[in-house]
Amino acid sequence: MTDKAKILVVDDEPLNIKLLEANLLSQGYDVVAASSGQDALKILEENDIDLVLLDVMMPGLDGIEVAKRIRANEKTSLLPIVLVTSLRDISDRIKGIEAGSDDFISKPFDKEELLARVKSLLRIKYLHEQLRENYRKLKSLEEMKDSLTHMIVHDLNNPLAIIFLKCQILADSLGEKITASQKEDISDILVSARELKRMIGNILDINKMEEGRLALRRENFSLTDLAAEVAEEMKITAGPAGQSLSAQAASAMPEMFADKDLIRRAIINLVSNALKFTPEGGHIDIISSFDPASKKLRVEVKDNGIGIPQEYLQKIFDKFFQINHDQIRAGRGLGLTFCRLVVEAHGGSIWVESREGKGSAFIFTI
Ligand SMILES: Nc1ncnc2c1ncn2[C@@H]1O[C@H](COP(=O)(O)OP(=O)(O)OP(=O)(O)O)[C@@H](O)[C@H]1O
Ligand SMILES: [Mg+2]
Repeated sequence: MTDKAKILVVDDEPLNIKLLEANLLSQGYDVVAASSGQDALKILEENDIDLVLLDVMMPGLDGIEVAKRIRANEKTSLLPIVLVTSLRDISDRIKGIEAGSDDFISKPFDKEELLARVKSLLRIKYLHEQLRENYRKLKSLEEMKDSLTHMIVHDLNNPLAIIFLKCQILADSLGEKITASQKEDISDILVSARELKRMIGNILDINKMEEGRLALRRENFSLTDLAAEVAEEMKITAGPAGQSLSAQAASAMPEMFADKDLIRRAIINLVSNALKFTPEGGHIDIISSFDPASKKLRVEVKDNGIGIPQEYLQKIFDKFFQINHDQIRAGRGLGLTFCRLVVEAHGGSIWVESREGKGSAFIFTI
C-alpha cells in the first residue's frame, strides 16, 4: 500500500519542490506540490493525501501554522506531517512538535534519510488506519450483538405474559378442588415468572436509561399505597422461604411525583434482594417516610439477613457486581444498577447501610 502513497510537498522555493519531487517520484510515490500554506490547505481539503512534507519558513502561513490547521481539521487530524527546515534551532523543533508534526528533515536533506522517514511514517499511518478499521468493525459487531440480545430479551415478554395468564386460569379452574401441592406448584411457577419479568425489565430499561432513551412518565401517587401493594404482591415469594414481609408508612405523607412504574420496580428489586439474602424466618420491612426539611420522600427496605461486608458497600450498585455467596444462586447483578439509575433519573440518591451477619437497609430519597 505504501508504495503508491500520495505525498504533498509544500515549499515556496520551486527548486526545493523539484528536488523533493524527483526523489519521491523515483520511489514510485505520487507527488502533489503546493507553493504556499494556503495552497496546501486547499489541496488537502480536496484530495486524499497520505503524507505532507512541509517547509517551515514560508511567507504568509508558515509551516508551523499549517501544521496546526492540519491537526485541527478532523479530515486531516491524523495525517503524518514532516517539517522540512533549514533551522537546526531546537526551539523551532519544539514549536513544530507542539503544532503536531511527526518528524523533521533538515535542509539540505539527505536522500536516504528522507526516504526512510517517509517510508516509516507511511507504514505507521497504514497501521493506524488498519486499527481504526478493525475498531469500526468490532464496534459494529458489538452493536449487532447488543441489538440481537435486546430483541431476544424483549421477545421473552410475550411467552411470559402467557405463563402468568395460564397460571391464573389454571388456579381459577381448579377452584376449591386445588390441592396443597398444586397450589405450591402454581405459586412456584408464578414466583419464577415474576423473577424473570423483573430481570427482563432490568436489562431492557438499564439499556434505555444508559442511552438516555427512557423518558420518565411522572404522575402523582401515594407511596404508602404503592409500598403496601408491593409487599402484598411479594408475600407469595416470601411465603415458601418462610420470611415475613411488611410495609409501614409514616402518617401525613405527601404524594410522590415520579414515574410510578419505575419506582415500583425499584422497590421490587430491593425486596427481591432482601428475600434472596435473608434466611428462613427472617423479616423484611418496607418503610416509607417524609422529611419536611429536605421535602424528600424516603423509602427504606430493611432486612435482618446476611448483610454486606464494608468493602463492597460502594461497589454494590455497579453493573454486574455481585458478592460471591456460597449457596445463593443470585441473578446477574443488575438489580441495584437498575435501582440506582431509576433514583438518579429522578434526581434522588440511593445508598446502603449494612452490617455483616446483622442485615442491610437500602434507602433511597427522592
Ligand atoms: N439485601 C441484601 N443483603 C445482602 N446482600 C445483598 C443485598 N442486596 C444486594 N446484595 C448483594 O449485592 C449484589 C448485587 O445485587 P443486585 O440486585 O444488583 O444483583 P443480584 O440480585 O445478584 O442479581 P439481579 O438483581 O440482577 O437478579 C448481590 O449479588 C448481593 O451480593
Ligand atoms: Mg437483585
